[in-house]
Amino acid sequence: MRRAIYPGSFDPVTNGHLDIIERGCKLFDEIIISILINPEKQPFFTIEERLEMLAEVVKDINQGGCNVRIDSFRGLLVNYAVAQEANAIVRGIRAISDYEYELQMALMNRRLEPGIETVFMMPAETYSYVSSRLVKEVFQLGGTISGLVPPFIEQRMKEKLESPR
Ligand code: PNS
Repeated sequence: MRRAIYPGSFDPVTNGHLDIIERGCKLFDEIIISILINPEKQPFFTIEERLEMLAEVVKDINQGGCNVRIDSFRGLLVNYAVAQEANAIVRGIRAISDYEYELQMALMNRRLEPGIETVFMMPAETYSYVSSRLVKEVFQLGGTISGLVPPFIEQRMKEKLESPR
C-alpha cells in the first residue's frame, strides 16, 4: 500500500493543487490531503471551510478513479505522516523559486524521519504561476480568477468577501 500525504494550507485549493492531486493519484494507492492547523496564521477560510471545500473537490476526483481522503494536522508533518502510515509526502514545485524552500523542508523532514520520502511533482505549465496567495490577492482587488480555481471555490470567495466572519 503506497500512501502519500499532500500537506498544505489550501487557502483556498487551486486548480494547480488539483492538477498535482490527479497526477499523484496515478503514483499512489491513497493520497491524504491534509491541512496544517496553524494558529499563528490568519487564513482567509477557516479550517472547517477549507475541509469542506476540499471534500467537495475530492468527490469529483474520486469519481474519476482516485483514492483521496481529506484531513487536518497539527505539529510536525513527519509525525503525522508516520501516524498515518504514509510512505511519502507529495509537494508541488512550480518554478525554480519554489525549489530552495522545498528542498530545505524535504531534507529536514528526511533527517527527522528517514523512512518517509518527499516526492516533488510539477503541475501543468498552465498553473505554473498559480498560488493561493496570488489568487486571494487578485480576487480581493477585483481581478478575475476564473480558470485558476474551481467555479464553486470562486463562488465561496465571493460569499466570503460579502460576509466575512
Ligand atoms: O502550502 P504550504 O503553506 O506551503 O504548506 C507548508 C507545510 C504545511 C507543508 C509546512 O509548513 C509544514 O509541513 N508544516 C508542519 C510543521 C513542520 O513539520 N515543520 C517542519 C518542516 S521541515
